[in-house]
Amino acid sequence: MSATAVNVDALIDAAKGRVTPLIYTDPDIYQLELERIFGRCWLFLAHESQIPKAGDFFNTYMGEDPIVVVRQKDGSVKAFLNQCRHRSMRVSYADSGNTRAFTCPYHGWSYGVDGQLVEVPLEPKAYPQGLCKEKWGLREVTRVEIYKGLIFGNWDAEAPDLKSYMGNMAWYLDGVLDRREGGTEIVGGVHKWTINCNWKLAAEQFASDQYHALFSHVSAVAVLGAARDAAPEDKALGTGQTNRPVWETAKDAVQFGEAGHGSGFFFTEQPDANVWVDGEVSEYYRETFDEAEQRLGRIRALRLAGHNTLFPTLSWLNGTATLRVWHPRGPDQVEVWAFCIADKAASDHVKAAFERSATRAFGPAGFLEQDDSENWVEIQKVLKGHQARNTAMCLEMGLNGERRRDDGIPGITNYIFSETAARALYRRWADLLISDTWEEINQRTQKFQEETVK
Ligand code: FES
Ligand SMILES: [Fe+2]
Repeated sequence: MSATAVNVDALIDAAKGRVTPLIYTDPDIYQLELERIFGRCWLFLAHESQIPKAGDFFNTYMGEDPIVVVRQKDGSVKAFLNQCRHRSMRVSYADSGNTRAFTCPYHGWSYGVDGQLVEVPLEPKAYPQGLCKEKWGLREVTRVEIYKGLIFGNWDAEAPDLKSYMGNMAWYLDGVLDRREGGTEIVGGVHKWTINCNWKLAAEQFASDQYHALFSHVSAVAVLGAARDAAPEDKALGTGQTNRPVWETAKDAVQFGEAGHGSGFFFTEQPDANVWVDGEVSEYYRETFDEAEQRLGRIRALRLAGHNTLFPTLSWLNGTATLRVWHPRGPDQVEVWAFCIADKAASDHVKAAFERSATRAFGPAGFLEQDDSENWVEIQKVLKGHQARNTAMCLEMGLNGERRRDDGIPGITNYIFSETAARALYRRWADLLISDTWEEINQRTQKFQEETVK
């Protein structure tokens, strides 16, 4: 196990709902995260629709490691560390594109899309003793798996397969990926920006925190409600929605939290989209409801709002079509990559409406996005204080209220206003950092779950 001056286990007491915020600031913990979380968990790389043809590539990251994802000639997908084996220069610079080779800009070593080193300038003169090019190909990401269009990578040969890793979270993810025949695609490009906060603040909020919306987003939601009241027939504002807050009108609401993953949503009676999406989007959801219901069942087909994190760093919001990755950039910065994800079968007109809606609400200048980032940045500033970062935080919401439901919603759940998913996330996080093997990690997770739901 890597040496760290900090006893990680002592900073988390998930059973009691206590977390010491040093976990958001400590540089040793951060290095351990890169090794033990970003080096062992399944990380989202790209959507298949971004690299449809042989030679198509997309540049991304696993933790802080630059990764190039490439469609192979046989249609499969491989991912490589974007690092020249000569002197560690990046070999692929464009965000995405199509290529026959990756040629390093420093001394010109050239690699095929299969990662093999194929060309070394002046090879016979510079390496008269011979150079075994087979040995010096790009380092390949150990495992790549695709789930319904989403491409994931993992450095750890011993990790469980992707489906087992997702566990019950796959049921929630399917609510976005499986609404219509043909699956999903990424619409438009990727919005990228940085926020000066630890990646876990964002990942945890999307896993577990509906609670903040009541307060942090109240002004934005009030403005939208007022605009809609003033022009109830205006399609651009959506129709058929009530202005009473959903937490007052919803019959029931659920939060799910297991193995670091989390999700939450209100039960609704009608396929009503969020107030911040365009009218075309609301209309699309009503028109396609029957197909979605047939494929997903009523509960998931009606779910057009709510938050989700697939541990560690893939988050999305149902109905709003934003899917994002929180790439860590040191203990106190995160780089957000936001994708707009929509049903492939939707018309171009509807896809454009999805993109507009996602950008307006949750783009880098999105009116809801900014409420969230503002909080996280301020928290990170508070934690510069020695006393502050060693003062425990309260994660007791809904403690001991965990239960398993009998209506088809899988996993450990609670009422939406709880911190079940946050407690599960921090427990899993600590278990990954302190365990040497996946067997140990999973044993700890199982033990925690058994203690959570008695
Ligand atoms: S660093 Fe790439 S060729 Fe030298
Ligand atoms: Fe928010």
